[in-house]
Amino acid sequence: MMKKNGKIPVNWRGTEKSLLPRSFGMKLYPLLIPTPHHTILFKIPKGADNILESYPENFHDIWDDKHVKMPCSVFEKENKNRWDIIVASLSKPIKKSEQLEDAIMSYNLKYKGKWRFHLLHSFFENVLTKEEETDEFFENLLPKIINLALELPTFITSPIPLLKQNNNHSISISQIQIACLLANAFLCTFPNRNGDYSEYKTYPQINFNGLFQMKVQKSNDKYLYEKLKCIINYFKKVTDPNFVCKRAVTYSRRYLPENELPTWSKLTNQLTNLHIASTGTIENDGDGMYQVDFADKSIGGKVIGMGSVQEEIRFLICPELIVSQLFSQKMLPTESIIITGAERFNDYSGYSKSFKWGGNYTDDTPIDDNSHRRYCTVVAIDALYFRNPKLQFDPKNLSRELNKAYAGFSWGNKSDCSDVSVATGNWGCGVFRGDCHLKSLLQMLSAAEAKRDVVYFTFGKTTTRDSINDMHSFLKNKNVTVGEIFRILIKYNEYMQSHSKPNLYEFIKSTVNNSVVQKPQNKQIPPAVIDGQLNVSKNASQSVREKPIQSTSILKRERNEETEKKKKKRKIDEHFQSAS
Ligand code: APR
Repeated sequence: MMKKNGKIPVNWRGTEKSLLPRSFGMKLYPLLIPTPHHTILFKIPKGADNILESYPENFHDIWDDKHVKMPCSVFEKENKNRWDIIVASLSKPIKKSEQLEDAIMSYNLKYKGKWRFHLLHSFFENVLTKEEETDEFFENLLPKIINLALELPTFITSPIPLLKQNNNHSISISQIQIACLLANAFLCTFPNRNGDYSEYKTYPQINFNGLFQMKVQKSNDKYLYEKLKCIINYFKKVTDPNFVCKRAVTYSRRYLPENELPTWSKLTNQLTNLHIASTGTIENDGDGMYQVDFADKSIGGKVIGMGSVQEEIRFLICPELIVSQLFSQKMLPTESIIITGAERFNDYSGYSKSFKWGGNYTDDTPIDDNSHRRYCTVVAIDALYFRNPKLQFDPKNLSRELNKAYAGFSWGNKSDCSDVSVATGNWGCGVFRGDCHLKSLLQMLSAAEAKRDVVYFTFGKTTTRDSINDMHSFLKNKNVTVGEIFRILIKYNEYMQSHSKPNLYEFIKSTVNNSVVQKPQNKQIPPAVIDGQLNVSKNASQSVREKPIQSTSILKRERNEETEKKKKKRKIDEHFQSAS
């Protein structure tokens, strides 16, 4: 264990975080260049300080199943002049929440009697109780939100492609365009996005009626008010005259076809570096790294609804992430969604029902001037939900989670951002009931295959931190490969069938320690795993390990190269730390 000035560090183990690579100074991926796979909704300005203007000049109206159906489209089937109704309703004076409800319902007639606005009304009855606060909202802020929303035909002039399943595509949107889209979502103007519309059944909620309908029935429902406070604060900032739109955010869908998935049982990589801490959070302490969103397959989860755990909180403190719900179809097992450049607008405290808005947040994340985006890459990957925890060890579930994490971690692997670390934590181990000892190991395997170091936050659990770190150190010191670890996990699943709750890490250690290292012989040692299934020997803890034996001089040379690489990385880091 690394001792810092002679003392064992209090809250972290493993490699010092500052030695692990971050994206600062690199060219953020994807580059801001329009291609058949990258739609850019604004004109790319020459200088870093120029305003991002909408592109093209005039509104290009499309109403098809490949693009977002815009509220201002003249091709709306049911109601050609629905946009006129929206403009007329929202242009009338709105002085209280009941009038806001009436305005919203006037262009959502089909939901009359179905949509409820409990939270919206009780927010003004029980939270913004002072008259001046309510006036401030209805006299000042709401008109700005409405003006922003009604700019839709001039702000968003290019059709927004849907990020459909089995597709790789990116969309870059300026912050003011994002604000305009979110204003429309807040005012529930997006058509066909609610209830029984089959065409959008596999898309997340985008209209905010899903949040407005929530009821605060007991005191621990009050976190719902806090969600509204985050959204209101976001609109306060983006409608402030000093808010200048010079930044953009890129939303990317990553799909890995079968032939690009690793054959986990055969991989010979070894684990990468690990920094693991019991304090800290991904968003606060994963700066410049790939920050994992413990997502739902329907990205955003219940942010526009009752949820307030890791993904929803991330979307509430960085509301620009919510726009991904407008065009991202549900994720399939080998897909991920990556959002680059999102700004953080809110601070917070607490978690789940104790979530509380913590006031305004000034985001000082460095900016990649080449692409007008902050060095903030959020990688959304949805874990499996396990009603029966035993099933998570099933080989097909192991492969599914490895592929899912790899689909996120390998993003930009062939780019300038190829060795940025991953900042993660107990992915799939909260609402989705996964085992963090297994899940952390799977993430380390996927990160190893993606050649990324790992920064892991155990969210307060010190014993988990120490046990995961101990396992990582053991496997690293023994040079156990990704393939071997995968094969041991398959053996563990077998062993578990006839033993109740064997300790995973003890099983791994005993298997590695008892394994016989086969000397290389002329005939190829048949891999102990055939097609992902292990040819299990009688005594499951025995194993056959093929390991390429290397001469010490090769190992020494490799070690020197490794040290050189680390020194270079440290120099880059020190340079950017002193610059920022
Ligand atoms: N940083 C690091 N770790 C965190 C953070 C954070 N900011 N927030 C929470 N954690 C840890 C906690 O230990 C938590 O129990 O991650 C664990 C898992 O968080 P969950 O949100 O429960 O993730 P998961 O189990 O993958 O469930 C995903 O929940 O938010 C919804 O939309 C999401 O439906 C999806 C489901």
